Amino acid sequence: MQKKCLFLLVILFKLGLGVAGDLSDFESQYKWTHDLKLPSGVEVRWIDSDPEYITFEMKGLGKGYIAIGFSPNGGMAGADMFVGWVDSNGKGHLLDMHGTHNGQPILDSSQDLELLGAKQDNNGTRIVFRRKWATCDEKHDFLIGDDTMRLVWATSETDPVENVDGFLPSYHGHDALKRGTKSIFMKVRPQHRKFPDEEVDNSPNQFHVDLGVSNVVVSKAETYYHCRIVKFPKLQSKHHIIGYRPIIAPESVAHLHHISIYKCHIPEILKISEEDVFEKYVGQHGGDCYTDQSPREWTEYCFEFRIAVGVGDEGQMLPDHLGDVIGDTDAPSYYRVEAHYENPEGKALIDSSAIRIFYTSKLREYEVAYLWTGHRRTPFLTIPPHQEEYTTYSFCGAECTQKGFPKDGIKLISILLHAHVTGKRITLRHIRNGKELPPIAQDNHVDFNYQHYRVLKEERLVLPGDELISECTYHTEKNDTFVFGGLSTRREMCELFIIFYPKSTLIDCRSQPEFYNYFEAIGVENVTGGILNQLHLPFNSNLLPVEMQDNALADDSMVLENGRADEIKHDWFRDVKITSPKNLEGRDVQEYMMGLNWNNKEFVKSVEQKRKSGGHYMHCNARGGKKIRTSV
Ligand SMILES: *[C@@H]1O[C@H](CO)[C@@H](O)[C@H](O)[C@H]1NC(C)=O
Ligand SMILES: *[C@@H]1O[C@H](CO)[C@@H](O)[C@H](O)[C@H]1NC(C)=O
Ligand SMILES: *[C@@H]1O[C@H](CO)[C@@H](O)[C@H](O)[C@H]1NC(C)=O
Repeated sequence: MQKKCLFLLVILFKLGLGVAGDLSDFESQYKWTHDLKLPSGVEVRWIDSDPEYITFEMKGLGKGYIAIGFSPNGGMAGADMFVGWVDSNGKGHLLDMHGTHNGQPILDSSQDLELLGAKQDNNGTRIVFRRKWATCDEKHDFLIGDDTMRLVWATSETDPVENVDGFLPSYHGHDALKRGTKSIFMKVRPQHRKFPDEEVDNSPNQFHVDLGVSNVVVSKAETYYHCRIVKFPKLQSKHHIIGYRPIIAPESVAHLHHISIYKCHIPEILKISEEDVFEKYVGQHGGDCYTDQSPREWTEYCFEFRIAVGVGDEGQMLPDHLGDVIGDTDAPSYYRVEAHYENPEGKALIDSSAIRIFYTSKLREYEVAYLWTGHRRTPFLTIPPHQEEYTTYSFCGAECTQKGFPKDGIKLISILLHAHVTGKRITLRHIRNGKELPPIAQDNHVDFNYQHYRVLKEERLVLPGDELISECTYHTEKNDTFVFGGLSTRREMCELFIIFYPKSTLIDCRSQPEFYNYFEAIGVENVTGGILNQLHLPFNSNLLPVEMQDNALADDSMVLENGRADEIKHDWFRDVKITSPKNLEGRDVQEYMMGLNWNNKEFVKSVEQKRKSGGHYMHCNARGGKKIRTSV
């Protein structure tokens, strides 16, 4: 292996020195699978279909060099850079470099790029090259894989200057240098095909509608959730939703954390129609989702997750054999649109963001549905302070999938991995008959600012009786206190949204650690008070009012949301007092937890493991807000 690497390097280095600058001859041979448009006219295209090589084209409007690369955190330090230019003789050049600090990058001792073409004209500069997904230069080249990558780019009006060290990209003339960073998937695809409004021959059977909020005055608040009820246009017959994209004004981008659309369902036993309840809200401006003034039925009945676009999301189109049914009944369908803003500085903002939904009358072969898995939204998702890595586990258990999935199973096609700012890594594991199959998805470098579905390389079959385990790893080096589960971005989530087909009854399959086990992991036997009643803890479905026993239990987020003004500052466990063991009696749980030694790695590991294996409450819910009864 070593030898093979060395041999290749010599050849590549020779190729890398210069290529005559004409691309036109062989341009048509490239079938770009990704096309990324960046500010300042910079464009990056690449091909992901070759198992060994990734082929890039980088394009800038200037007459100087163009550079792209990958960075651990968006800065130049530690970045893996590719710098290309066309000299005054029309000859192309390409260097494999790396950043050591926020300044000029330096040459890698191993040159692993292969220049394929270079061109400069009045339209700017284009460089085509390829590199192995994984090179032998482990020191300076990033492995380009399934993780979220931080792409950095720079473009200049001047070519690099030659000096004793060889060529170096000029750092002079800052005016001429434009740069930026963007999180991106390089190897996984964010969607299956182009958006219909981008295609030249727009099919006559395709339509779109924008569902969103309108003129929301976003006041100064760390976290603001705006809700309104919308109605899907009345259709004469069944249609399929085939994709969606966000429509977000540029000035809102920095403040809009997500927009989600939830379908409204009134439980049948209540014997009232959705029209009776929701029609009156259609056309209204809406308001804060979670105050006492907002209509209870919005959050109580409209929580079947359908579509969400998060920060950095560009939307997606489903593959050609799949559609999401709409208009299949005579009754109108109502949705709650929820827009989450963060505006701590109180910047003046009036927002009218929406999700554009593409649908068609030409029905697809199969119908998709959405599965929500991961951890419930609850303070019992608890991450200790000062951890380089702390992992939480949540389960979609075998009993739930046994009861909820069709007998031939379901096929997963895309997945969105969602955590907030302290999220580091998310993995979805897949267990069948006690044996682990390859992970369904894994991202070792999640970026809160790039929330995007990822298309699975192959559809994954999940059978009834299979178990799905969601692992979320957080880093809290900078946090002096616990980070609890909750809604604001300062709280955490571990949520995975999966698109699959064919439809199943099961749509929501999340868990949280069993109550006594949660406390036992930190040496506490029993507690009392505070929010526990509101959270129905310790959980026992037989203690719920009869009419609730067959309905999905609303998330703790309802409780959290009601106290949302407090949620930002409030530590939920201050109101919970220890009753046993005797020597800890009367102490509040928050203060007790803060006093534990979270620098002791063994102790932290043991808490992690106990909360993983000590039993979980399953929240196994079917379409229409119905609970699927399980034994735990
Ligand atoms: C610049 O781009 C335009 C549009 O793609 C093209 O028509 C034109 O020929 C290009 N100019 C040069 C000098 O290649
Ligand atoms: C935890 O630290 C992150 C910075 O890494 C910060 O953004 C977040 O607000 C902190 N959360 C809490 C609850 O203090
Ligand atoms: C915990 O305390 C409550 C009373 O606050 C009691 O009802 C319950 O049985 C206790 N649980 C255990 C496991 O001791």
